[in-house]
Amino acid sequence: VLAIPLRASNRSDLIAVGIFAVQPITEPADLEQESPWFDDAKSLHQVPYCDPKLLLQLGEAVTATIYERAQLSIREAELKQLAGQLTRNYEEITMLHQLARDAQISLGTGSLQQMTLSLLAEILPVPQVVYVSRRTDENSRSQGEPLLDAGRCRELRKALGSNSQRSVLVDNHLMDRRLPAQFAGVGRVISVPVLEGKDLFGWLVALGRKSDRDLGSVEASLMSAVASILATHQTNVQLYRDIKDLFLGVVRALTSAIDAKDPYTSGHSERVARLSYQIAQRMGLPEDQQNKVYLSGLLHDVGKIGIRDSILLKPGRLTDEEMAHMKQHPCIGYDILSPVRQLQPVLSGVRSHHENFDGTGYPDGLRGDEISLMARIVSAADSYDAMSSGRPYRPTLEQREIMQIMRNGCDQQWDRSVVTVLLSILEESDVEETLNVAPGASHARKVINAIGPTPWQSSEAVNLAPLR
Ligand SMILES: [Fe+2]
Repeated sequence: VLAIPLRASNRSDLIAVGIFAVQPITEPADLEQESPWFDDAKSLHQVPYCDPKLLLQLGEAVTATIYERAQLSIREAELKQLAGQLTRNYEEITMLHQLARDAQISLGTGSLQQMTLSLLAEILPVPQVVYVSRRTDENSRSQGEPLLDAGRCRELRKALGSNSQRSVLVDNHLMDRRLPAQFAGVGRVISVPVLEGKDLFGWLVALGRKSDRDLGSVEASLMSAVASILATHQTNVQLYRDIKDLFLGVVRALTSAIDAKDPYTSGHSERVARLSYQIAQRMGLPEDQQNKVYLSGLLHDVGKIGIRDSILLKPGRLTDEEMAHMKQHPCIGYDILSPVRQLQPVLSGVRSHHENFDGTGYPDGLRGDEISLMARIVSAADSYDAMSSGRPYRPTLEQREIMQIMRNGCDQQWDRSVVTVLLSILEESDVEETLNVAPGASHARKVINAIGPTPWQSSEAVNLAPLR
């Protein structure tokens, strides 16, 4: 008997068996009596007999071949699995790379969250991915089939007994739990916290089943990596906002110190800044330039800190000597601000806002394009606000008069292209009729209130209401 195991594994439960004659059969009848295997013993004498050694060699060769084939198919299966894993890893790395590349501060957290969900939905074997914000007043986001909304995702976490909001949760057997039908039907869930240090922003939640494969540590760790990018981005955005607010707060404190000295010019810096910003916007300057023009408008008169109060607050007209002292304020402002690296781009607006287009201004007697566009814009906005605000020695001018003065002053005091834009803003703002502004307020304040919010999105920045 030659028996060959047909499987190479330990469980050789399938065996091929062959019966061979190993010597000539002389008496088939004897065999018939001895063994029930031979139905037709009489014909056995015709069967060729085999050499036992050769048979054994054959058996060993067949066994070796079967073993080799089995090993080959095992390797092929492993290779296939590895290729699948590599593809998944590649997709995951590509996704993490894309997220890390795009997670710039300029990209809003909402946009990054939505982009993250889209990418996760392509990779994870689930029909829905949700970003659940910790704060219920913030938007939560979802991608894919709407199995559960954000509120239900929160409830599901609680229903699964996830007491810690900061823990990772993986459950593939929601059907087996005693849960409300809407949760049990979901089938599978992974929830990971979006966490940076002690700050918990929300959770990334994957829901439902797309294939027979259970969700596990591979999916959970990918989601944790993604959640970490989201949390870092959100923290950075918050830090950046805080720094920006602090910066703008310091700038405002500086300008307020000036404005507070002279009750007649209170709020002047903010109004000039907002009007300058609006002009820059209408002229089509890039956004970063618009912001710089705004800052420059805020800071343009900061040098008045160095002007004696007796001159700054003098109710009447200034003598020549007093005027000469007053004219130092652009250079004083320039000197105050120039050590601050971040303020370098706005210095020209501070130094040159009293230059005239025809070269008759101060402090450097620049003319035309020698004066930066920023300074030409701030100059026009500054003049408009000054003329539209009353002084002890002269009444507030009517808007018509101011517009005429500015038209006449084109190419002399002001840049014509800037004045044209400023006048178009004034003409389009139906100030008197559309705004409910306290009587006696300056034209500029009305116009600027009509113009809308300032740049920088600072919570302190927008409201001009408390001004006189
Ligand atoms: Fe000034």
